[in-house]
Parts: sequence; structure tokens; C-alpha cells
Amino acid sequence: MIDKTIEAALNAQVEKEARSSHFYLAMASWAENKGLNGTAEFLYRHSDEERLHMLKLVRFVNERGGKAVVPALESPISNFSGLQDIFTTLLEHETNVTASINEVVDLCLKRKDYTTHNFMQWYVAEQIEEEALARNILDKLALIGTDKGGLYLFDRDLGQLQPEA
Ligand code: FEO
Repeated sequence: MIDKTIEAALNAQVEKEARSSHFYLAMASWAENKGLNGTAEFLYRHSDEERLHMLKLVRFVNERGGKAVVPALESPISNFSGLQDIFTTLLEHETNVTASINEVVDLCLKRKDYTTHNFMQWYVAEQIEEEALARNILDKLALIGTDKGGLYLFDRDLGQLQPEA
């Protein structure tokens, strides 16, 4: 039976992953409305993957004899000033998610819950990939600056890029 404190921490993480999915959905919709179809595709996929991150936690909590809580979600920010804004916001968001995952890992060690600790290692690795990808995208955007041809290619390439699952 899962420790109640761990269960609460995992349910808080369920909410964070659900909010990430919602947030990236709003970003994808913004990009689609701006004609940035490649960016929109990338963000729609990213949103789907965050839902899977949430689902993985929900199922783990239930399998361990806990009770997963499906959270209520508020409307995310849906107005952005441009691609730089989108990916800076995304990176900030992921950095916060990483901090929260690290707290869960820390709690697992304190509570000697090595099963959940092991399960959380997938999220630790995932966060490294996601942060690196967001930084890489921001570097590319910085290189492109205001060059319209560069932005066109950036958007096209991003549409073909698979975010880490
Ligand atoms: Fe599920 Fe982007 O962290």
C-alpha cells in the first residue's frame, strides 16, 4: 500500500502534468492561428505526451493501492507575443516541473519508498530531454532573429521533430 504522503505528492504531480498538457494545447492553438503549422504540430504532440505523463502517474498510483485524483484545470495563458515567448515560457514551465519531480524523488528517499523512487527515474530522464530540447529550440530562434526565411524553415523543421515521449 502506498504511503499517503507519497500518494499526495504523486497526485500533485498528476495535476502538474495535466496542466502542462493544457498549457501546450493553448500554445499549439495559438501557433495554428498564426499560420505556424509546424510549431503547432510540435506543440499538439507535446500536449499529447504530457497527457501520457499524467496517465502513467494515475495508473501507477492506482496500481499501488492508492487513489488517483483527476484534477480540475483552469484556462491556461493563451496569448503570446511570439515564438521566443512561447519557448521561453515552455522552458520555465519545464524547469518548474523538474523541481517538482526532484521533490517527489527526495520524498521517496526520505520515506524509503524505493518502488516509487524507481518509477520516478523515468520522469527524471524525461525532464533532462525536455529541458535540453527547449534550450536547443531557443538557441535556434536566437540565431534566426527576425529573418523570415529562417523562421519559415524553423517552423517546417519543428513540425517534423518528434518531442521525446
Ligand atoms: Fe511531463 Fe514536460 O514534463
